[in-house]
Amino acid sequence: MAIKKLGVIGTGQMGAGIVQVFAQAGYDTVAVDLMPAMLEKGLKGIEKRLMGRVEKGKLAASEKDAILGRIKWSSKLDDLADCDLIEEAIPENLELKKKTFAELDKICKPETIFGSNTSGLSVTDMAVATKRGGKVMGIHFHNPAPVMQLCELVKTVMTDEATIEEVKAWGKSLGKTVVVAPDVGGFIVTRLFTPFLLGAIRMLEEGIATRDDIDISMKQAVNHPMGPLEVVDFIGLDTELSIAKSLYEETKEAKYAPPVLLEKMVVAGWLGRKVGKGFYDYK
Ligand code: NAI
Repeated sequence: MAIKKLGVIGTGQMGAGIVQVFAQAGYDTVAVDLMPAMLEKGLKGIEKRLMGRVEKGKLAASEKDAILGRIKWSSKLDDLADCDLIEEAIPENLELKKKTFAELDKICKPETIFGSNTSGLSVTDMAVATKRGGKVMGIHFHNPAPVMQLCELVKTVMTDEATIEEVKAWGKSLGKTVVVAPDVGGFIVTRLFTPFLLGAIRMLEEGIATRDDIDISMKQAVNHPMGPLEVVDFIGLDTELSIAKSLYEETKEAKYAPPVLLEKMVVAGWLGRKVGKGFYDYK
C-alpha cells in the first residue's frame, strides 16, 4: 500500500483524536497546529486516554510508548511535505479550508492525498483550490474519533476512482467501518442528524420542553447514549451553527435553518463542553 506516512492539520477536538487513531493503527503521523497550546493539549489528551487503557489492562505500557513515539508534533506546515495522506481538521470554515489546501498543494509531493474532516462543507470547493482535484476527498471521522467506528468517505465528481479505492482500503486498516457518500451537504450522517439536533434546540427555544426533559426523553425512549442538547454541547455550538448555515444555504430547507437561540449562544461564547458552558455547565 502506498499510504504509509500520515499528516493531520488542526489538532483540536477532532484532530487530536484522529492523530491517536492513526498512530494506534501503526502509522507514523505528523500532527500540525498553528497554536502550540493546542499541540500540547492534543498530546496530553492522547497520553491520558492511552494511560486509562493501560490502567485497565487493555494496552501494554510499551505499546503506549510506541504509539506516542510515532507522533511528531509541529507548528510548521512544511513538516507535512512528504506525507502520503493528510487529514485536515481545522475549523468548519470553507475559506480557511480552501486557503489551507492551496498552501498544502504547494508544499506537498504530487502524490499526497488530501482528506477533509468537514461535517458538511463542499469538498469539491476544497478540491478546486488545489491542482490535484483527483486526490482530494472527504474523510469524515465522528466524535470522539478513537471511539466512533464509522469513517464516512466523500467523493466529488473529480475524485479519481483509484484514490477512492486506496483510501477505502486504508480506512479499513485503521479498524474503521467505511461508507462512501457523494459530496452533498452533510453527506449521510450530518444530513440526517442535523434536523434532529436543531429540532431539539427549537423545542427548548419554544418552551415546549425543558433541557433535561428533552435529553432524558431521547435517552430513555430511543436509547440514544446522549440527549440531543448534550450532543450539541459535545460537538461545539459554533461548529453546529456552521453546519446548519451551510446545509441551509445549499438546500434552503427550513429544517436546516439555524435556531436564533443557537446563534445567540454562540455570540455569548457559550460554545459547549470545550469552553465549559453550553446548554449545560461543565465548570
Ligand atoms: P476545533 O476548533 O476543536 O479545532 C480546530 C483546530 O484547528 C484548533 O486547534 C486550531 O488551533 C487549529 N487551526 C485553526 N486554523 C489552523 C490553520 N490554518 N492551520 C493549522 N491549524 C489550525 O474544531 P473541531 O471540533 O476539532 O472540528 C474540526 C473539523 O472537524 C471541522 O471541520 C468540523 O466540522 C469537523 N468535525 C467536528 C466534529 C465535532 O463533533 N466537533 C465531528 C466531526 C467532524
